[in-house]
Amino acid sequence: MLFYFLILEGYQFVSSKEGKDAGCSWGHRLSDRIFIGVAWPYANGPLHLGHVAGCYLAADVFARYHRMRGNEVLMVSGSDTHGTPITIRADQEGITPAEVVERYHAEFLESWRRLGISFDLFTHTNTQNHQQVVHEIFLSLLEKGYIYTDNMLLAYCPGCDRFLPDRYVEGVCPFCAFNRARGDQCDQCGHTLDPQELHEAYCILCGGPPEFRESEHFFLKLSAFEQPLLEWIREQPHWRSNVSNQTRSFLEGGLKDRAITRDLSWGVPIPLEGYEGKRIYVWFEAVIGYLSAAVEWAANSGEEGRWEDFWKDPDTRSYYFIGKDNIPFHSIIWPAMIMGYGHDLNLPYDVPANEFLSLENRKFSTSQNWAVWVPDYLNSYDPDPLRYLLSINMPESGDADFSWAEFVRRNNEELVATYGNLVNRVLSFTYRNFEGQVPPAGEMDEVDRQVLESARSTLDEVGRSLEITRFKAAIGQAFGLAQDANRYLDAKAPWRAIREDKADAANTLNVSIRVINCLKVALAPFLPFSSQKIHEYLGFDGPVEQEAWDFEVLAGAIKGGSPLRQPSPLYTKLDPEVIEQETARLGHAET
Ligand code: MF3
Ligand code: ZN
Repeated sequence: MLFYFLILEGYQFVSSKEGKDAGCSWGHRLSDRIFIGVAWPYANGPLHLGHVAGCYLAADVFARYHRMRGNEVLMVSGSDTHGTPITIRADQEGITPAEVVERYHAEFLESWRRLGISFDLFTHTNTQNHQQVVHEIFLSLLEKGYIYTDNMLLAYCPGCDRFLPDRYVEGVCPFCAFNRARGDQCDQCGHTLDPQELHEAYCILCGGPPEFRESEHFFLKLSAFEQPLLEWIREQPHWRSNVSNQTRSFLEGGLKDRAITRDLSWGVPIPLEGYEGKRIYVWFEAVIGYLSAAVEWAANSGEEGRWEDFWKDPDTRSYYFIGKDNIPFHSIIWPAMIMGYGHDLNLPYDVPANEFLSLENRKFSTSQNWAVWVPDYLNSYDPDPLRYLLSINMPESGDADFSWAEFVRRNNEELVATYGNLVNRVLSFTYRNFEGQVPPAGEMDEVDRQVLESARSTLDEVGRSLEITRFKAAIGQAFGLAQDANRYLDAKAPWRAIREDKADAANTLNVSIRVINCLKVALAPFLPFSSQKIHEYLGFDGPVEQEAWDFEVLAGAIKGGSPLRQPSPLYTKLDPEVIEQETARLGHAET
């Protein structure tokens, strides 16, 4: 067996595949089966751009890329239907949690479709299947002694006469002293918490101090996994530094056992008698969704056992795309649960967590309506300009900001001016002057060869960046090729050449169209709707997703004489007035 070791800008990856690399110009390939889990959004309100930038776009770009490489991809997620975010919303609106969930789950599905987020399955945690898988894991961990019962002190508000879920208690964080830490997690330092750990705790319903009363609950024996996790994390040098650092500091603090049930009536029931008033804690069961969704997907596909390809084949790589506030749940707690359960399930290969997106330099806030809601955005604009901006400005290695001014500027100066105009001027000029056909290639000179070489190397570079989840770099590289193509076109000026030397103009356009065919593929993971249009303008049928990520194939598919279709501009220039109109809407209550 051949092993390739590749060191790239500090990243190291290893492939143990052989014989599958023949068509690949850089002779290296990761696993051919990729599982992609994406954070499960709480179904308690619409999605905003922070969610999209946090994990959904990156996951989708990654999935689309791997599918085009011919890899088998399973990308799953679903609505997180339990937990206090849902019950708080239901209480506010005077409806049932189930009604809240139903409304937003349907809206999520619609948003993914319109935005082009290509889940293989987007389910929810309120299914029979999910409950079954959760029960199976719960009982197995219980049997092995990794789950045990104990009495615990729980926040109880005498003023409100009820037990308080973690999020109903706030106070001072024991790690960073942030004074509005929630009972489940501190938003400032990212530590997960128990309400008892908070200093100066208060009930968010009435402001009074909670008491702590005894109640019997189930605990996950996380302490048993401290050593195995430490060893495992040492084997993950390819993780992003934000993920490694948060994970390590969490582990160095020592792992404490955690309660995984609550005094609630909404959630997954405990599969044992005598616990009817209690439910499994939302975080314990939500992460199991990654497994239960794969099981559901396999059952839907008609081959029930197929989920095992993605969960039991050690050559499958599992990626978890999440926001930075979810890191320890995916890098520690879920891996510990998998280790405890056994059955040879794959641990995460990578947890590429993004940092946060702010909006006009302020934190997104649902309660203050400081947000751009995905359905609203899509009612006014196309999906690709947003996908472009959130890719080139992804909060990948640091926080990033969305502003309408930048949205308009990048749309006009980059998407329209660099890429849209390139495609439009080549295709419409060709269509008009060469009877709607690809012009014949002629003799190649050095300049022709250079731009084609740039197309070849760009496909390689974009692929390499995407393999290591560097999305900003990847889209930048693809746009570098668009710039090269513009320079090439300006130097060759086929619109002048056509008068004296039609064969030369024909050759220039032929070369340009080959480059555009490569750009179409290099940008398809980011701008799928635009790439589909180009694909059709170039005379091809079927989905652009089925194109090969391969320079020879793409350049070779452009043949003199083949019919093109009437093109129209890919993007529209936005009036700068958009900036003022849109920013004026922020922070006001919806009417
Ligand atoms: N619903 C939670 C959140 O949005 C966590 C989802 S990730 C999961 O923060 F895997 F745990 F579901
Ligand atoms: Zn209270």
